[in-house]
Amino acid sequence: MNELETKYRSTGLPFVTLKLAQTLDGNIATCTGDSKWITSKASRVRGHQLRAEADAILVGRGTVIADDPELSVRYVNGKSPTKIVLDSQLKIGLTAKIFSGAPLIIATTEEACKKRIKERKKKGAQVWQMPVMNGQINLKAVVQKAALSGLQHILIEGGSRVAASALRLSLVDRIAAFVAPKILGAGTPAIGSLNITSITDAIALENVNVESIGNDFLFTARVKKRPKTAEQSCLLAL
Ligand SMILES: NC(=O)c1ccc[n+]([C@@H]2O[C@H](COP(=O)([O-])OP(=O)(O)OC[C@H]3O[C@@H](n4cnc5c(N)ncnc54)[C@H](OP(=O)(O)O)[C@@H]3O)[C@@H](O)[C@H]2O)c1
Repeated sequence: MNELETKYRSTGLPFVTLKLAQTLDGNIATCTGDSKWITSKASRVRGHQLRAEADAILVGRGTVIADDPELSVRYVNGKSPTKIVLDSQLKIGLTAKIFSGAPLIIATTEEACKKRIKERKKKGAQVWQMPVMNGQINLKAVVQKAALSGLQHILIEGGSRVAASALRLSLVDRIAAFVAPKILGAGTPAIGSLNITSITDAIALENVNVESIGNDFLFTARVKKRPKTAEQSCLLAL
């Protein structure tokens, strides 16, 4: 049994890689949301390799609206993964590039507008109406459902808020952070708020590997598993 199957069988969850393309000072975009391009072409090619190895790419509504990404594999040979987008009010326009290419799943809420759901289904998307937790789509329920549908390796590609949600819920197994020798100052942080006030509570990484890709560095590491918080224990019981 490989690592993905082992994780799925023991937890019902997919293996999750969080990919970041960030500046040296930890930004994934400027304060206006511009993110093209932080890293070099060579790093982006490597990023597409990571996409080709995944069953699904997951992003938030903010990323789709800011970047209008295709979320496809273009720079290497390989199959483009299924796309999963979190969009609680179905605000992403029907002309967005994600509606073309590989299958698209839009995760939204039970309250989402029926007309908008219908329009998106007409464009070929699957719409998953998911429970809400703390005012947001329950990300754990989304990845659980994805794993049940056979999507056992998920690559989270941002943005800041989705990365934070995934880390807060301990859903991330591996981090792949491309770090470019650039500084932006106050921009869009790679990871949104985790409400950590003490260094002892920082999310620790292990099995760290650093590789140089042109002028960038690719930092890969495993997320050290932590004891479950009360919030996570409640979620597991769902
Ligand atoms: N350099 C990189 O690696 C990289 C990668 C991706 C993005 N980016 C940049 O990041 C920026 C976007 O980041 P962002 O933080 O604004 O947006 P985001 O994380 O892409 O999307 C956040 C939005 O997703 C929806 N959402 C639904 N359920 C959620 C949940 N459980 N957790 C988190 N979000 C949930 C919410 O919108 P609703 O309430 O409307 O559902 C939320 O506002 C853009 O500037 C983009 O260019 C950079």
